[in-house]
Amino acid sequence: MTNEKLRELFNDLSLDEKIGQLLQVAGALYDEDALTTGAMDYFKITNEELDTVGSILSVSGAEKLKKIQDECMAKQPHHIPQIFMLDIINGFETIYPVPIAQGATFDPDMAERLASMAAREGAAAGVHVTFSPMVDLVRDARWGRCMESTGEDSYLNGVLGAAMVRGYQGSDIKEKGKLAACVKHFAGYGGAEAGRDYDNVELSEHTLRDEFLPAYEASIKAGAKLVMTSFNTLNRVPSSANKWLMRNVLRDEMEFDGVLISDYAAIKEMVNHNIARNEAEAGGLAIKAGVDIEMMSLCYSRGLQELIKEGKVDPKLVDESCWRVLVLKNELGLFENPYKDASSEDEAKYILCDEHRKLAKEAAIKSFVLLKNEDNALPIDQKSTKKIAVIGPYVETHDVYGSWTFPSKPEETCVSLRQGIEKYVDSHKVNITCSFAEGSFFYDRPSKMKNGVTYPYNEAKQAEMIEAAVKEAKTADKVVMCIGEHAQQTGEATSRAEITISKGQLELLRRVHEVNDNIVTLVFTGRPLELEEVTKLSKAVMITWLPGTEAGNAVSEVIFGDREPEGRLSMSFPYKTGQEPCYYNRFRTGRPNNGTLEQFYVNGYIDQIDRMLYVFGDGKGYTEFEYGEVLLDNTKLKTDGSNTLTASVTIKNVGNRKGSEIVQMYLSDLYGSVVRPVKSLRGFKKVTLNPGECETVSFAIDESMLRFHDINMEYVSEPGECKVYIGHNSDTENGADFELI
Ligand code: BGC
Repeated sequence: MTNEKLRELFNDLSLDEKIGQLLQVAGALYDEDALTTGAMDYFKITNEELDTVGSILSVSGAEKLKKIQDECMAKQPHHIPQIFMLDIINGFETIYPVPIAQGATFDPDMAERLASMAAREGAAAGVHVTFSPMVDLVRDARWGRCMESTGEDSYLNGVLGAAMVRGYQGSDIKEKGKLAACVKHFAGYGGAEAGRDYDNVELSEHTLRDEFLPAYEASIKAGAKLVMTSFNTLNRVPSSANKWLMRNVLRDEMEFDGVLISDYAAIKEMVNHNIARNEAEAGGLAIKAGVDIEMMSLCYSRGLQELIKEGKVDPKLVDESCWRVLVLKNELGLFENPYKDASSEDEAKYILCDEHRKLAKEAAIKSFVLLKNEDNALPIDQKSTKKIAVIGPYVETHDVYGSWTFPSKPEETCVSLRQGIEKYVDSHKVNITCSFAEGSFFYDRPSKMKNGVTYPYNEAKQAEMIEAAVKEAKTADKVVMCIGEHAQQTGEATSRAEITISKGQLELLRRVHEVNDNIVTLVFTGRPLELEEVTKLSKAVMITWLPGTEAGNAVSEVIFGDREPEGRLSMSFPYKTGQEPCYYNRFRTGRPNNGTLEQFYVNGYIDQIDRMLYVFGDGKGYTEFEYGEVLLDNTKLKTDGSNTLTASVTIKNVGNRKGSEIVQMYLSDLYGSVVRPVKSLRGFKKVTLNPGECETVSFAIDESMLRFHDINMEYVSEPGECKVYIGHNSDTENGADFELI
């Protein structure tokens, strides 16, 4: 539709219809099988109110959505089409690794391809918008939503978030197979106090701007059409009422001109925050802050008319928001084609097609992070190994998708570990006997999870399972332990006070270790966990995250050595939960410690060395690399931005098989008018080398990479000594000095 036509339509709408465009309701109101991503019981809407609704969330399926679209358009006074939105987080039905694992790939090209694949499936199923990417910076692993972010580094999150936006949207969201992307949760949601979901966020404006905002900004600059508000308060104001955040920062500074949508019932919840006396007042605050669409509460629908009548809200605000919603509908091409790409033929053609499964497998392999590999325990030596025992609750389960994969049917679609290993051994004619034992329940007691399922536990059965597993371990040459936190322990509303593996699973590991110490442990998780004991009892430790549809196939190719694990940690793993929040780029302290417990009156703890068990960026493949010195082509970088430096390093594969390495470049501003992080990731490159082969990897450094917010909140770089580090992980000391002049 032309802009003029859209204007004509807009001018013809009643205030009621305009406000209706600002309401988003759950698909469960139209389809009883639709999923829900939050409470529904409070949401009582009249049929009349439903007639003017502008968008619907959490329902999918080509034929279903065509029908809902027809019904809704028939009722709409101006027959305006609905937008269908859904959380397509790590795939639609072909599920690929959870976002924290995608972070571990350090691979924007892969993130883009995955998003594009998810868009193709979602669009075929009639969806128009995905609530992704989630680029919240996550530093506290107690927060269950770590799983939904690409990790603890703002730069990495920005690079991957922007790639996902490109993948979902392509160059034009109208195109077949494309979705509009929604960047969330603006802003600072990952800073929830003590990792408690929905909690207050206390951030200085400096940290907000230097560490938290850049990833949102990078994704917005990549063209994301929507942004979602966060549940949390920031500077004591819930985001959905935060005028400064939404109007000054998001709209003016970041120049975002798309649709701003509230999170699920976040506007109504401002009454619970006690910043509004009632829902109408909450609606007034949100519209003034510039929130366009209200998801799953009725503050706008029931309050705005009155507030406008009383002169408390300017009707122009409703006009502004309604216009943005109509523009998005037009950009999606819905006025010409309200079904967009919904097609049952395309659903059959694309969903879980071979090409998509292949990509999901590739992504899983690229996301696995090998953290320890003593005596080359991995890959399994097919010549000397006669029997392996594959043990743990992750052996049989299909529940390896994470908690945001509603339309998928894991029982039918996921290749479990056991299925993958059996198929591999059979098809590759591997001469190794494999036995399988679950060995333990996931939980230490019957546990009701947010998906409504109660996961069982029975003490006698637990003891029996351990005995059966130990029996298998005794006669095996090698044990592959498959343990971790349950998929339902990750995602929204799954904060944990202890980031541990269940006692039952640890007991299983100890008992197995008593009879066989040749253990390779695969850790399935959506967040960093305490792994000190697991590390001690295992020759090899590999983080497999929640790998998705191709879990069993990907794991088999890696443990049997066709492929090496290629990921690097996107979040630091502490020794103990009490170290959280835990991240590599901390500020310099006045009393640094030396990493022992022998010092006092220094920063840290008296009962735990102030180091991480595994640092951000860590991980290895099946070969070894040697780094040369960091060389700079020039040691003076100008603050006026008129030159760049090139830092390079030669890396050599000194092992005996082909392998890849993610070369990481960190910058450090040694002295500043405000305290700065010890170092910050500013670049990375993947290299793949044959044994004995060398490659020189270079990074351009420019002045903008050293900018930060000074005490006056000016975004500046300051002259002075700096250092560039290029190495294997965030602990690298391989550096060279330069000066900003
Ligand atoms: C979550 C969002 C999600 C929304 C819609 C909320 O509870 O915080 O991330 O996009 O539900 O499902």
